[in-house]
Amino acid sequence: MTEPVRERLDLSSKDPNWWRQAVVYQVYPRSFADADGDGLGDLRGITRRLNHLAALGVDALWLSPFYPSELADGGYDVADYRDVDPRLGTLDDFDALAAEAHRLGLKVIVDLVPNHTSHQHVWFREALAAGPGSPARDRYVFREGRGPHGELPPTDWQSVFGGSAWQRVPDGQWYLHLFAPQQPDLNWANEQVRADFRSTLRFWSDRGVDGFRVDVAHALAKDLTEPLRDLGAPELSGEEALGEFPPGTHPFYDRDEVHEIYRDWRKVLDAYRPPRMAVAEAWVPGARRALYARPDELGQAFNFEYLQAGWDAQELRQVIAGSLADARAAGASATWVLSNHDVIRHASRLMLPPGTDENAWLLTGGHAPRVDEAAGLRRARAATLLMLALPGSSYVYQGEELGLPEVADLPVEVLQDPIWEQTGRVRKGRDGCRVPLPWTTTGPSYGFGTGGAWLPQPEWFAQYAVQAQDEVEGSTLEFYRTALRLRRKLQEGESLVWADDSPAGVLDFARTEGWRCVTNLSDTAVDLPPGEVLLSSGPLEDGRLGPDTTVWIA
Ligand code: GLC
Repeated sequence: MTEPVRERLDLSSKDPNWWRQAVVYQVYPRSFADADGDGLGDLRGITRRLNHLAALGVDALWLSPFYPSELADGGYDVADYRDVDPRLGTLDDFDALAAEAHRLGLKVIVDLVPNHTSHQHVWFREALAAGPGSPARDRYVFREGRGPHGELPPTDWQSVFGGSAWQRVPDGQWYLHLFAPQQPDLNWANEQVRADFRSTLRFWSDRGVDGFRVDVAHALAKDLTEPLRDLGAPELSGEEALGEFPPGTHPFYDRDEVHEIYRDWRKVLDAYRPPRMAVAEAWVPGARRALYARPDELGQAFNFEYLQAGWDAQELRQVIAGSLADARAAGASATWVLSNHDVIRHASRLMLPPGTDENAWLLTGGHAPRVDEAAGLRRARAATLLMLALPGSSYVYQGEELGLPEVADLPVEVLQDPIWEQTGRVRKGRDGCRVPLPWTTTGPSYGFGTGGAWLPQPEWFAQYAVQAQDEVEGSTLEFYRTALRLRRKLQEGESLVWADDSPAGVLDFARTEGWRCVTNLSDTAVDLPPGEVLLSSGPLEDGRLGPDTTVWIA
């Protein structure tokens, strides 16, 4: 089922809309490729492996943070927004990476982390040194505690990673950290904070980056009017509780004022030719999320409802139709994502029975229930082919093109995710999707580097290595390559038309006149609609479409 290579769509740097229907590959730099053999991935490692991305056929790469960081949260604790961590390289290495990517026709997106800095950032050090009431403290959220001696946190707000969102400093004040204590939240009401991030946007745009992924985009604006409000129950601190509040009124998530910030940024990004794109990481449901993607704001927002949907035809159809309608209403293009560095890889996740507690599943090392890997891969490939047929951008996460399952049984001694300690060792966290990639079938770290890997790779990684799949017919890698090549050729317009006669458990839609995508989520084989099968995510069953299989038909 291989297709002839076709010319690439025109993604020349002049096209201001290149991102609207792009396929973006997420690189988690610590785990992609290690050029200097210290066990930690680096920029030179990425540059050497960029040909893998070009051969895959993606349009862009998004680099998770590579900035100076003590890695308290995998680099999302940034000590300097305008430099490279010395363990990962230098600014010259970054320039070389960007130049090589552009030479290969790949756009470069970097991660911006505006909600919080690292506690090692010069501003936070200044804030600690300057003391209560100082301008340096006003860049963060410092408050007096409650109780007779200020020994209680200012509010009951909880950190996403577990425990109170407040940490006390030696002079008695408390500071807000929605994530780890090493990640103090910035005060976006402070004009210096705003000006500094405009400079950071310009710094990377001037260096030629094509876009930005905006971390926790929905948390920047906070209701800091005195007295700060308690939420009343710990679970109200989570995004899942947003529905309990009138829209825009949660004290720290998805407040209406946050949009001013992005309108301001859009002016900065639009001063470049072509304008720099941006995509919001905003764990906010439906139409409210689409607001971040308005043309005068970021342009796109990750659609996590698609990622969170079960493997169920009705649910997926609803989510797809809703997401397209929300994006259209906002004047944005839709986005789709199945895996990233924060969630269980979809080759494992999609096999978990509905209602499985994913945290508990990780704690059992993936043994309860045990996921059938072959069945998981079959479902993952079907889900991927469905995703790649949808109008809008698809974001793929490193290793999914190899069909990698989650490494669910990492021993607790090696865990690095702050979630593990901060939940009092109740949740294992996200390390299982961050294990360094296998490139070769043998060698000290399966070709990741020469000096081991910062998280141990299981022996079964060998069978998923790039080397084991390259030019092997039917391999997941070749399947992704073919799908991406075909997508370039077939994709037009930004809409789809559902077939109204599809059997229960089947998703069936046409993208353009010559391109139809059918997914069977039921447990029996169904007849194929007429037409030529261009690509199938798995073998057909006597000419019929078996369970957990997607086909593209012309
Ligand atoms: C985002 C990142 C996640 C990080 C958090 C705090 O959700 O994707 O990895 O831990 O923000 O920066």
